[in-house]
Amino acid sequence: MCGIVGYIGDKSASSVLMEGLAKLEYRGYDSAGIALLESGKIEVERSVGKLINLREKLSDKKYSANVGIGHTRWATHGKPSFDNAHPHSSEGLTIVHNGIIENYIELKTMLKEKGFTFVSETDTEVVAHLIKSNFDGDLKSAVQKTVQHVIGSYGLAVLSEANPNEIIIARKDSPLVIGIGEGEMFAASDIPAVLSHTRKFIFMEDGDITVLRKDGYTITGIDGQPVDREVKLIDWNPVMAEKAGYSHFMQKEIYEQPRAIIDTIRGRYSLEDSRVNFADFEKIQSVVKDFSRVVIVACGTSWHAGLIAKFYIEKFAKIPVEVDIASEFRYRNLVIDEKTLFVAITQSGETADTLSALRIAKEHGAKVISVCNVVGSSISRESDSVIYTHAGPEIGVASTKAFTTQVISLFLFAIYLGQERGTMSSDEAGRYLGEVLKLPEVIEKVLEQDDNILKLAKQFKDASDFLYLGRNVNYPIALEGALKLKEISYIHAEGYPAGEMKHGPIALIDKDLPIFILCPKSSVYEKVASNVEEAKTRDGIIIAVVTEGDEGLKGICDHIIEIPDIIEELSVFPTVVVTQIFSYHVAHLLGLDVDQPRNLAKSVTVE
Ligand code: F6R
Repeated sequence: MCGIVGYIGDKSASSVLMEGLAKLEYRGYDSAGIALLESGKIEVERSVGKLINLREKLSDKKYSANVGIGHTRWATHGKPSFDNAHPHSSEGLTIVHNGIIENYIELKTMLKEKGFTFVSETDTEVVAHLIKSNFDGDLKSAVQKTVQHVIGSYGLAVLSEANPNEIIIARKDSPLVIGIGEGEMFAASDIPAVLSHTRKFIFMEDGDITVLRKDGYTITGIDGQPVDREVKLIDWNPVMAEKAGYSHFMQKEIYEQPRAIIDTIRGRYSLEDSRVNFADFEKIQSVVKDFSRVVIVACGTSWHAGLIAKFYIEKFAKIPVEVDIASEFRYRNLVIDEKTLFVAITQSGETADTLSALRIAKEHGAKVISVCNVVGSSISRESDSVIYTHAGPEIGVASTKAFTTQVISLFLFAIYLGQERGTMSSDEAGRYLGEVLKLPEVIEKVLEQDDNILKLAKQFKDASDFLYLGRNVNYPIALEGALKLKEISYIHAEGYPAGEMKHGPIALIDKDLPIFILCPKSSVYEKVASNVEEAKTRDGIIIAVVTEGDEGLKGICDHIIEIPDIIEELSVFPTVVVTQIFSYHVAHLLGLDVDQPRNLAKSVTVE
């Protein structure tokens, strides 16, 4: 997820772009850059790190351009560096891009054969050269030809010296809006970027290509045919706009999950041959059959993702998996060797305990894979291979979309291991991949239940304790649900395997204790249903999360939340989203700082 801004009008383009980028910094902050059309020539200014660095660089420059494009980056291809920062240029034109180009390797090879040279590791530079190679004086048709050959997602803005009176923008699976001013036009990946200049917006749709001129715009489809898009008047205040109308970043990130999952799986599977592929897996690929054991290490929410991955990997790849908390792993007498595959899970890639655990595993000769959301982070740099989760930056301290994208990455990874090791057939892999594709819609349906979950939050916000129970893959979700509630609402909550309740926690149950029971259709449904009975007999207040159409628990439970039907392995997605929404509402209703809960930090770089 990156931020894009474009401007054409009479104002100082560099000021409009820098102001816009500041509003988009939440979308990415590992580097930033702008390109200006200055007296007919493109001038590019870029810098690594936060926007402040670019601002300082520009402070002693006097640009008078009235046309330009800008970008703030969240790396997906190529580490955060000067060379990888946008805009990316090809003689006489320059572009900024948000998204992922899946066929960039194939396109790069073709362009190299045509004589283009590359200075960055990005997929975006490929698009810049491709536009150039299609350019015959008409920039819009060059962009149109280019996007017809691109597979993947893009929000694009293109500037060319040969066409100084226009900016071309294009969109597929990556947000892009047009801002309409008086004698000026704007482009942005999100409304807040230009809301101080206009309230009139068009939300571009997939396949739209727009020519922005000072005095107007023209939108066509990918086939060149004109299309009509409605102009909308936006009446958000600036704070609402930054969060895209949501009250908090956490809420926004919960709602981003269907899209984030699509970004995570993009380009990593093929339904034609039912295979999973990861880029940058050379070091693992050659030894994948040799591992006798997988050791997963992580902290907090990422550790919960690891607990779920154990089910996936043991089932699909038939390798024993241990899951450890990084701070515990470090101080044991470890039995690890070169036959161990070590998997570090971390959204930030900077967690001190996980990093130390990884170093110890390497010292013992293990091969190391990390599942990480931050390209170029310490853990990703020190790993043999990385599976990037492509969730985009997560601003809310409580992890939501970072977690679900970890889990889906690990699900694909387990299929990969199963196929490489010959323990999973193509048919089976194809069936599971088909189920994965249902997830965005399944999560959307859970999000539609927000109001029902809010009602429950209102009813239970003053409870002093909660119990969360689940079994099998939903046991880690019980832990995660309890952690989410604790960290943002400060209400005491415990997560337990439902079958373990009778060995102790059952003593806590009385008429005042709300118990979240995760009981979707599964191989352990009957077992969990008996646990519900046990809890109800002790007068506990049961809130059950069940598969839609399940009548079995309706008479027993106090409250039912229905989730769509999905295979057991993937039921963790709808169940966790229910618990995220519940925790979010409870904390919000209690008037707490949802995005920055007390005593917590987004990246824990101390032991
Ligand atoms: C909870 C949460 C934390 C992190 C933990 C590990 O919502 O976000 O529990 O999961 O601090 O962080 P990473 O994944 O960055 O290693």
